[in-house]
Amino acid sequence: MTPNSISDYQDRITEALVKFFGKDQRRIAHTLDVLRHAQQIAGTRIEADPDVLTAAALLHDVGIKPAEELYGYNNGPLQEKYGPPEAKRLLDEMGFPETKTAKVIEIIGNHHSRSRYDYVELEILKEADAIVNRAESQTGYQPDVRST
Ligand SMILES: [Fe+2]
Repeated sequence: MTPNSISDYQDRITEALVKFFGKDQRRIAHTLDVLRHAQQIAGTRIEADPDVLTAAALLHDVGIKPAEELYGYNNGPLQEKYGPPEAKRLLDEMGFPETKTAKVIEIIGNHHSRSRYDYVELEILKEADAIVNRAESQTGYQPDVRST
């Protein structure tokens, strides 16, 4: 890992994420795995912003919780719809820079569909999420998207 992948906000966002998912430890573990892979990948991509990447990696699945509360299930479109407002609220509460929050929520709102933004952090998040989802499905865990 290089200094380029480390964010000063990592501890605060991690704490907010753990509180947000509460007893849903599988989501927390998934997210921390995605962050680790994203940081490893970012080590070779010097143009990636560590704050944006870290926030996007840690908060990319926060839409799952409201989606499951409202519908009893989650999928990519629901995550993309409900994730951004939750992420914005959590980041605003900790004083995360507004311009970076705008980018993070665009990334979260686009992490399960064809990329609408040419952001290296979006590309890295998708790559890291795919690695973890594949590994989880091979070990019998359900991937982070369920359609039923
Ligand atoms: Fe994920």
